[in-house]
Amino acid sequence: MVFDVARVRAAYPALGEGFVHFDGAGGTQTARPVIDAVATAMGAAVGNRSTAFEPGRRSLELVAAARSAVADLLGAQPAGVVLGPSATALTYTLARTLGAGWRPGDEVVVSRLDHDANVRPWVQAAEAAGATVRWAEFDPATGELPAGQYEELVTARTRLVAVTAGSNATGTVPDVPAIAKTAHAAGALVCVDGVHAVPHGPTDLASLGADFLVTSAYKWSGPHLAAMAADPARWAALRPAKLLPSSDAVPDRFEYGTPSFPLLAGVAAAVDHLATLDPDATGSRRERVRAGLAAAQAHEEVVFARLLAGLAEHPAVTVYGSPARRCPTVSFRVAGAAPAETAAALGAAGFCLSSGDYYAYEYFEAMGLRAGGGAVRASVYHYNTVDEVDRLLAELDRLAGGGERMAR
Ligand SMILES: Cc1ncc(COP(=O)(O)O)c(C=O)c1O
Repeated sequence: MVFDVARVRAAYPALGEGFVHFDGAGGTQTARPVIDAVATAMGAAVGNRSTAFEPGRRSLELVAAARSAVADLLGAQPAGVVLGPSATALTYTLARTLGAGWRPGDEVVVSRLDHDANVRPWVQAAEAAGATVRWAEFDPATGELPAGQYEELVTARTRLVAVTAGSNATGTVPDVPAIAKTAHAAGALVCVDGVHAVPHGPTDLASLGADFLVTSAYKWSGPHLAAMAADPARWAALRPAKLLPSSDAVPDRFEYGTPSFPLLAGVAAAVDHLATLDPDATGSRRERVRAGLAAAQAHEEVVFARLLAGLAEHPAVTVYGSPARRCPTVSFRVAGAAPAETAAALGAAGFCLSSGDYYAYEYFEAMGLRAGGGAVRASVYHYNTVDEVDRLLAELDRLAGGGERMAR
């Protein structure tokens, strides 16, 4: 099928404002069906969860619909989907819960390629338990995270391996199934950060080998909410710290407080929207979501290839990393300008790109780039076009050629 990007763009009202968004990695624009679903739920009679009255039943349905939608997105079971305010909050909950069972001498493996949300909660839980933290290193030249090193890092004492399915700094897609295999052979659990990877292609909890997989809806056209998926039996074996009167059921017992019911309506609508990205797709929502994200991935690859080629041949641009398998995300610097200056200059021209470390703290620290302000990040989402890439490259030409203005 031909990816009709004009049709897809029409579903995002914010694109009408004219900004050029190359910061999907920081958060995508919201699709119209999501906005409508949130507004409808907000305008309707919705009470706190209760089976006694209709508005209460609606809230129960909104929670169930969000779980079922995320399950279709990730290849999980609805009863294994824990909903929460952010991937960071959900990972902290899991880390505190698992960490409570760790003992001195136990080991945890984290990676220097990960966003800090899948590093610090584990490091701090390990510290609290007196457990040892072991670090997986990336190749500074390519940004790859070699899976072979886990053979050494994982031991009989390893309790958990935390790894990203896609780096939000270099786009690197590590060989998570191989890493998970090594971890499982030693009896360790695997927590996979899917926040950056899930928006860019079909995802399957089981094929990844993830025991826990986290994703944030605001990176895939939805609202600022997140979900963590696992086998319901996995959750059932865990006892989080929780309020006494709150539900002890799985997965509810891992969710704190009263959720935003209207935003949960937006989560389900976002998955339904992803299922429309390939208009020829048929079958279950799971099948249509996979087809939609595969179509989006093919389009993103074309747009990203153009961006990467343009950056690579630009004499003033340094690109960091060249991973073989990657999400459409790249970090770079422009000679003579601090990353924040480049981002601000691009921002003034209507281009939205992040700069700094974007919480890929260990990556930029290990690269020695934190001190200089990190890098500038361009990330492609399925509503981006080749024309937008050409305009960005032209603007970079103008800025880098502008000498004085960009010079420090
Ligand atoms: C790869 C990755 N992991 C985790 C997070 C944290 O997600 P949240 O903002 O939902 O806590 C982000 C956010 O940018 C991210 O890019």
